[in-house]
Amino acid sequence: MSEGLNLGGATGSNGTSGGNEGLGARSPVIEICGVRKAYRLGNRRVDVLRGVDLIVGRGEFVALRGSSGAGKSTLLHLLAGLDTADEGAVRVASVDLASASPSEASRFRNLKIGVVFQSYHLFPELDALENVCVPARLARRGVDECVARAKTLLERVGLGQRFEHRPRELSGGEQQRVAIARALINRPELILADEPTGNLDSRTGDEIVDLLCSLRAEQDVTLVVATHDSRVASRAPRVIELVDGRVESRLGGWG
Ligand SMILES: Nc1ncnc2c1ncn2[C@@H]1O[C@H](COP(=O)(O)OP(=O)(O)OP(=O)(O)O)[C@@H](O)[C@H]1O
Ligand SMILES: [Mg+2]
Repeated sequence: MSEGLNLGGATGSNGTSGGNEGLGARSPVIEICGVRKAYRLGNRRVDVLRGVDLIVGRGEFVALRGSSGAGKSTLLHLLAGLDTADEGAVRVASVDLASASPSEASRFRNLKIGVVFQSYHLFPELDALENVCVPARLARRGVDECVARAKTLLERVGLGQRFEHRPRELSGGEQQRVAIARALINRPELILADEPTGNLDSRTGDEIVDLLCSLRAEQDVTLVVATHDSRVASRAPRVIELVDGRVESRLGGWG
């Protein structure tokens, strides 16, 4: 990480607008203030995020809801440093992602954030075990350590018998579970999961949420999960909803 990055602490941007309730005394892991994002296709412009304010404290589990096209994936991409906001501040683990270069953002993401993409993004030529190892190898961890942890994680998501299967040899739900194991390999502080149960039967989906909740309890991991699944949202103590490009907030289920 270069010295050019703003690594200062919390800015106190805990305004009173939607989405900041329930933080309590926890230090913020996510601080978003006044974020706007539009996509332009030709001469058409889609205003997706129109002034999002959100603070998420360490160890929170936040479910992100909103109708299809509301901007959930867009927001997660901004939090992961995969895209940049047109306006406003996005600070994750005290790092200002707006001032990070793409390579800095990528290194930061690999070390601090576990991302589970809506469409998995597995490497087609790598088997399940190799896919899970990738972030750890990028972080220069030793092969033996990577393989041992990847096997443990794949077993934990119920894929102990699928180490050598490539993505095309796995079902959608199995690919999703490989993606979840991959997101966990570097012991991230923050997990951003985009519809992590979208292709799973309800029992497997419950097991995945159990796994995420136990990581939260064991390691104080912060979870932000975009979901249409009310079973998942009911597990989150805090539910926020994207409506008309802004965050609306309410307390959720039993966590
Ligand atoms: N790269 C892009 N270029 C142009 N428009 C885009 C792009 N990515 C997303 N959009 C548009 O932005 C809006 C928000 O998309 P986004 O994927 O964030 O929604 P979502 O809430 O995740 O929806 P879903 O629940 O269906 O996954 C959509 O209307 C989409 O068409
Ligand atoms: Mg989406």
